[in-house]
Amino acid sequence: MDWKTMKKPIIALSPMADMSDLPFCLIAKELGAEVMFREMVSSEALVRGNEKTFEMARFDERERPIIQQIFGGDPKTMGEAARLVDEKYHPDGIDINMGCPVYKIVSNFNGAGLMKDPKLASEIVREMKKNITVPLSAKIRLGWSDPTEAIDFVKYLEDAGAELITVHGRTKTQGYSGVSDWEMIGRVKEQVSIPVLANGDIHKPEQVSEALKVTGCDGVLIARGCLGNPWFFGQAREVLETGKAPAPISLQERFDVCMKHARLHVEHYGERGVVTFRKHLSWYLKGIPGVKEMRTKIMQVTSLSELEELLRGFLLDQKTLPTGSVLVG
Ligand SMILES: Cc1cc2nc3c(=O)[nH]c(=O)nc-3n(C[C@H](O)[C@H](O)[C@H](O)COP(=O)(O)O)c2cc1C
Repeated sequence: MDWKTMKKPIIALSPMADMSDLPFCLIAKELGAEVMFREMVSSEALVRGNEKTFEMARFDERERPIIQQIFGGDPKTMGEAARLVDEKYHPDGIDINMGCPVYKIVSNFNGAGLMKDPKLASEIVREMKKNITVPLSAKIRLGWSDPTEAIDFVKYLEDAGAELITVHGRTKTQGYSGVSDWEMIGRVKEQVSIPVLANGDIHKPEQVSEALKVTGCDGVLIARGCLGNPWFFGQAREVLETGKAPAPISLQERFDVCMKHARLHVEHYGERGVVTFRKHLSWYLKGIPGVKEMRTKIMQVTSLSELEELLRGFLLDQKTLPTGSVLVG
């Protein structure tokens, strides 16, 4: 894979801890996502040989093109972790997390903490590049606290050898408050000649063309907008190509995809997957009348067949919504 020559615009699935795992990536791919960024894994855990972490980085060939994101703050450890992942699984690319705002991560110069130290960030890029055979990218924020920090920061990354950068248009200090500043993403994009992807608050397929126009970016990364709504990717492409509003998702389709995802999830995680699937389920059911009352019942479901029965009754017997209604994902 080559980020430069790849067909643009790129509409990709953003990395999301606990969410963009093997089953969800398979579903997103089937419904039109063009590149899958898998959830972050710890470089230190990989280097320690932690089996659970390696299992998180395992993927199904049908998910390709797949990018594995790694977090960490030590160049040697990051380089070694990248080498191990490349050697064992050979994903299509490796991404560095330079945007995570969570205290446990940034307090150790990981995630967005790296934006405070461009030299360390460049060293990490160099060390990883040396050790892998696939393209290296980084996902950043606009800065630690000042939204103009990324303007210089991206030049360090490009000089060190990064081949693609994703910019989430918020600072670390903002967390998830405020809005993603697409205009500032555009200014950051102008600083480098490698492709840049825009991220943050692209929550509807109809917003993709606006985000591309404002940022001038080579593509977008979609996170919350596709949770419980993996149709986002196909719909975004449809809107870009036809300029028309996307075709509505029927309740039958919602039921079918949700159950397919649930089956894949349980196949992957075993019986406990019925419980861990609840986080996806609440996104699939968001906005449907009566969902609040359904929650208690959902919490008691212990098998796929119970889930199927419950969902069939709830989704397909909806009296308040005609089949074919568009639901907000
Ligand atoms: C549940 C969840 C988990 C996330 N995990 C990661 C992660 O592992 N790595 C990362 O770079 N960003 C992570 N993010 C940030 C998203 O990839 C994305 O940058 C952010 O949500 C803004 O995009 P959005 O407005 O499309 O949601 C996560 C976001 C959410 C909601």
